[in-house]
Amino acid sequence: MNICCIGAGYVGGPTMAMIALKCPDITVTVVDMNAKRIAAWNTGQLPIFEPGLDEVVNQARGRNLFFSTDVAGQIKKADIIFVAVNTPTKSYGVGAGRAADLRFIESVARTIAEHAESDKIIVEKSTIPVKTADAIQAIVASNSKGLKFQVLSNPEFLAEGTAVKDLTNPDRVLIGGERTPEGDRAVATLVSIYARWVARDRIITTNLWSSELSKLVANAFLAQRISSINSISALCEATGADVDEVANAIGQDSRIGPKFLKSSVGFGGSCFQKDILNLTYLCESFGLPEVAAYWTSVVGINDWQKQRFANRIVKELFNTVADKKIAVLGFAFKKDTNDTRESAAINICRSLLAEQAKVCVYDPKVPAHEITADTLGQGGANSRLTVAADAYAACAGAHAIAIVTEWDEFKTLDYAKIFAAMPKPAFIYDGRNILDLAALRKIGFRTAGIGKP
Ligand code: NAD
Ligand code: UGA
Repeated sequence: MNICCIGAGYVGGPTMAMIALKCPDITVTVVDMNAKRIAAWNTGQLPIFEPGLDEVVNQARGRNLFFSTDVAGQIKKADIIFVAVNTPTKSYGVGAGRAADLRFIESVARTIAEHAESDKIIVEKSTIPVKTADAIQAIVASNSKGLKFQVLSNPEFLAEGTAVKDLTNPDRVLIGGERTPEGDRAVATLVSIYARWVARDRIITTNLWSSELSKLVANAFLAQRISSINSISALCEATGADVDEVANAIGQDSRIGPKFLKSSVGFGGSCFQKDILNLTYLCESFGLPEVAAYWTSVVGINDWQKQRFANRIVKELFNTVADKKIAVLGFAFKKDTNDTRESAAINICRSLLAEQAKVCVYDPKVPAHEITADTLGQGGANSRLTVAADAYAACAGAHAIAIVTEWDEFKTLDYAKIFAAMPKPAFIYDGRNILDLAALRKIGFRTAGIGKP
């Protein structure tokens, strides 16, 4: 069997590497139009940082895992084509700022229709609005070669930073297909691939629309938990309650559960906001404005939380940060990834720069040019924004330190040494609640945490 995956990003690369690892008899080729990215997948320096991924890729690459820019050639050879291209929020025209931009999905469907020379199963791996399978089916069915295509939905639930773990031992695999004999056969083929390493009772099969919708709903529910606890963090700060204690107390209720209740500076990442906006746009398109408003508020609280964080720094520094140095520790949207898409750090840096602070960022995995481009826009320049080579350099001479990403190395810094190199009073704001604030106060820091007394 030959599998081709179009899109060699955070999803296409790791998911296909795992299939190749677990199914040595299947040839898996990941293709992308981005030649630089493909070249990186073929070197020792993979284009994405993901714990454990190097080992998986090294075991399979060259054996039955390949990375190539030959999209047309691999489409011809493939029995199954996964589509893992990006589906960003549309930035133009109808639905701008909310609807999913499906231009890459459509372009892939047209490329498949053009180059296919045999029947194929097409698998939606990208996150897309409900009914996208209809559009793909209509485009590929219009080929003039009499070929047959089955479109399946197989959304991906991996989280960055834990992708290898999530792919090795997924909570579930979801496969949606048309409820016809041909659709059932295609679903069975895909089930048989995952069943090589995933217990059969964890492979859920549904109709196409349930599968497509479940992906958006899963992300909406996860993000909603974060916005819920973040909204409560503000009330904790006002009342003297401790948000971690509240999260622990409610999370012990097995109906609520302990996961995804970590209050923070705000959720980031390429998907939560995008997918909720996509969901709200769908709701409005189907005449459900109340449902749309409910989910929109999840994003609203998140925006508010990010701004609240930046405002608190300004307030703690006597309502002016002009020309004061602020150290921002962490720029990735979470630890163990080099991904900065929609990272809360971007908003925080911009807000502080707008107050004319001198912002000095350090992140262990994000390169300086990316920090600058994300904050100021491509080609943007602002001498107030600098990037340090390590946390100590970032903090030296700073009036305040903001912990924005929960990198493990920030837990074990020598804070007494850092304190000594800061003007007084020195302030530290832990946006991830990873530090012992009482210990920092003993050193002499003024402190704040999210939802902390
Ligand atoms: P990405 O931007 O990292 O990768 C997408 C890749 O597709 C890019 O390298 C791009 O060059 C390529 N591409 C686009 N159009 C192409 C075309 N016509 N031909 C060949 N290559 C093309 O995106 P990602 O983070 O991997 O996300 C992909 C999809 O998976 C999105 O829909 C996203 O919502 C979803 N998803 C992402 C995650 C995640 O953790 N990042 C998790 C679950 C689902
Ligand atoms: C998320 C989902 O967890 C995945 O299941 C999904 O496949 C993926 O989106 C996607 O569709 O792209 P990801 O964004 O990679 O994964 O990472 P998460 O661990 O979900 O974290 C998202 C953001 O929420 C991060 O900024 C993180 O710091 C924040 N977060 C997470 C909190 O603030 N508190 C928490 O308790 C958990």
